[in-house]
Amino acid sequence: MNKKRFIYVVIFGSLLFLSFQIVQNQLHLLQSPGAVIEDYVEPDYGLGSGHIDSLIPFPDVKKGERTPFDLWRYGGKGKSSFMDPNLPMSWDEWLAFHQKQKPKLMKDVDEYMNSRYDFNGQVHEGQFMSGGRKPIMKGPISRLPKGTKSFEELAQLSPEEIKANDLFPFKPLAHPLSSTAHMVFPDSWNEAHPEHLRIDVDHDYPDQYLPEFPPPMFLTNHKELGDVTKGKEVTISNYYEIFNGLLTPEQMEGLKELVRPTATTWFNHTTHRVTAEPSAGVSCFSCHVNGHTNGAFELAPDSRPHMARLRVGTPSMRGNYNLMQLGSKRSIRSMDHFAEIEEYFDGDPGMMQHIGPRAHQDQVSNRMGDFNAMLDFPPAPKLGPLGKLIPSKASAQELEGEKLFWGKAKCSSCHYGPAFVDDQMYDLQVERFYVGRPEGPIKNFPLRGIKDSPPYLHDDRLPTLDDTVEFFNLVLELKLSKAEKEALTAYLLCL
Ligand code: HEC
Ligand code: HEC
Repeated sequence: MNKKRFIYVVIFGSLLFLSFQIVQNQLHLLQSPGAVIEDYVEPDYGLGSGHIDSLIPFPDVKKGERTPFDLWRYGGKGKSSFMDPNLPMSWDEWLAFHQKQKPKLMKDVDEYMNSRYDFNGQVHEGQFMSGGRKPIMKGPISRLPKGTKSFEELAQLSPEEIKANDLFPFKPLAHPLSSTAHMVFPDSWNEAHPEHLRIDVDHDYPDQYLPEFPPPMFLTNHKELGDVTKGKEVTISNYYEIFNGLLTPEQMEGLKELVRPTATTWFNHTTHRVTAEPSAGVSCFSCHVNGHTNGAFELAPDSRPHMARLRVGTPSMRGNYNLMQLGSKRSIRSMDHFAEIEEYFDGDPGMMQHIGPRAHQDQVSNRMGDFNAMLDFPPAPKLGPLGKLIPSKASAQELEGEKLFWGKAKCSSCHYGPAFVDDQMYDLQVERFYVGRPEGPIKNFPLRGIKDSPPYLHDDRLPTLDDTVEFFNLVLELKLSKAEKEALTAYLLCL
């Protein structure tokens, strides 16, 4: 080797060595290990059968494949937090796969729902939702466990006995196709908006048990108008005609953004969409129709894996001006912020890039929040200014219900004030009653206008107000009589 070449080799070698050292030093910085307790033994924190050891690991299913209905039994980590925006197959194969799977899936969903609920079509005589047309369904229709004769008998048992014998009738409700998940619209909505009919899954509730459609809209600053829509669904094509002369230009701009369909994971022209044809996507009012709800459901975006995400029914936007806490789990503190982040990308910025982001600027989302803040609760003619029943207008049963609500039944410890909510999150510890993954703290919901927004609880597991009363009777261990529970429901219908 000549001298010159030797020098080159030495210089090259030293540079290589040096850069290796630098990289290694930096890697070392990145990989600085954290502290570890050597003899770590995991406590179960008193969770007992709610602890990970008692739960089944989440199944490893591919996008679109069927998922268990009893997802409460599963827990722990999934394989990855990140989602691949591409389908594992061609579009034609995806379509064919769902054409084959959907009929059987929906038959099983129906069977499952009918095994949990007795959809007997009974109504509360003479009681209608605020629009005056849709009857209020009567319950409880959650099926009692085998061998139990009545809800009163069940309520005599302790949480431990109910859990040990698997007797709890109010277990969580899962998204029927959790591997794809996303929005599922009710039949009444799909009839008016066939572009949202999914190729893979339909809503699991009969329409009778969902909110009226279209629902009336009440404005805080135009109470005199009653339903300002006069029975119409507000859309991008009629909002101007209905609201011109009623709103400020700024509020009008906010409303327009609430009714303007935008790109949405799974609904627009992506290769992984769940509709036969691509559409413009969905608008806020596709679920929060007329500022209320049509009963569409989704998965909460706050968690991974997908199958650990809680099913969430669409809450009403009415009276949001009185709430300081939005989203079952996310505790978002303002409607403006909600409009900004409610991007339908499933909590995955990678997906947002794929579908085309809404890219709302603060200015725009503030305006959406401004319109939202005008949506009022429906009229409650039996309530006075302090939110108490006016005795001359209420029946003896309703007054008895009010007494229970503010006393023996303890409802008012969490539900009070003008919206009948205290704006806190509560851990109702429902897992005391069944073996399953604890759901943790959930946002409290307002009860003003509650008769208009079945099904109840964040995941729609309670079809009627009567079921909700039975739920709280068990969960709060109240042991109310049948007559007391009926009085409580009668009172809730007045709010
Ligand atoms: C799938 C249909 C759907 C669409 C479309 C939709 N939402 Fe929602 N919305 C939901 C669901 C479901 C929740 C409950 C989320 C949760 O519990 O975490 C929710 C919650 C909210 C809340 C909080 C309500 C509360 O009581 O906690 C606000 C505010 C809201 N949405 C505003 C919007 C806005 C603004 C848009 C449009 C940018 C929008 N939503 C689009 C379904 C929808
Ligand atoms: C410890 C606080 C607390 C008490 C006491 C309480 N609730 Fe609630 N309530 C909640 C929370 C939290 C939720 C939401 C739970 C969920 O979605 O999982 C809720 C939800 C509801 C809902 C469903 C709301 C909706 O939009 O789906 C109704 C109806 C209701 N409560 C009625 C009652 C009645 C009646 C009582 C008394 C018998 C009562 N609550 C007592 C905290 C409470």
